[in-house]
Amino acid sequence: MEKNNNYPPENLVRLNKFLANNTNFARRKIDEFIEQGRVTVNRKVITGQGVQINPLSDDVRLDGEKVKEKVKKIYIILNKPAGIVTTTDDEKNRQTVIDLINIKEKLYPVGRLDYDTTGLLLLTNDGEFANKLMHPKYKVAKTYIVKLSKPLDEKHKLKLISGIKIDGRKTAPCKIAFPNKNDTETVSITITEGRNRQVRRMFEHYGYFVRKLHRSSYGHITLGNLAPGQWGKLSIEEVNKFFK
Ligand code: URA
Repeated sequence: MEKNNNYPPENLVRLNKFLANNTNFARRKIDEFIEQGRVTVNRKVITGQGVQINPLSDDVRLDGEKVKEKVKKIYIILNKPAGIVTTTDDEKNRQTVIDLINIKEKLYPVGRLDYDTTGLLLLTNDGEFANKLMHPKYKVAKTYIVKLSKPLDEKHKLKLISGIKIDGRKTAPCKIAFPNKNDTETVSITITEGRNRQVRRMFEHYGYFVRKLHRSSYGHITLGNLAPGQWGKLSIEEVNKFFK
């Protein structure tokens, strides 16, 4: 199309490919539809092959129905550094997790980590996936490494494991362990809920101050060797495994 000359060539795609990617018809069927005059671009019937269109600006229709470009789903893992907010837009203009990821898709964090919490954060443009992961019904395990202000007393540990009341509601059973022998100020805790500031509040309940909080895993996903501030993409197998 002539007007496409105004757009960067990398945005252009062949009309039949665009239609095959964004409808349930195979490329061969699409070519037939084009020959039959069932396809319009910017309200003009196109019957020739080899036409290129710009998905961002051209109005493509099959039998009069507008064909929308399917949004590619994307799943990101970020090693969140401290001193960054987990929102898409901060009213105080502080740096956000979105600022760290330079891709064009609009991303949303799956849950949130506090400003000072570090570690594994998932982000996606797939709202259904994000909502499912955050829903308590799915009981996705999240593990945190916690540096406490004093050694964790055995009786507090047992109480926390079986559940304590926060905001009048008991926390679900969780796991607590000491990852380093002879260091009872550093604990790992695995919870399946995601209440606001849950880990900090659980320890604060018994008078412990959380000096450092780091999320090391989310379900079967771990940070691997991602350095703070670095991010990567999850594979489709890693994504699908969540609900197997
Ligand atoms: N629990 C907290 O208290 N803070 C976090 O950032 C994550 C879990």
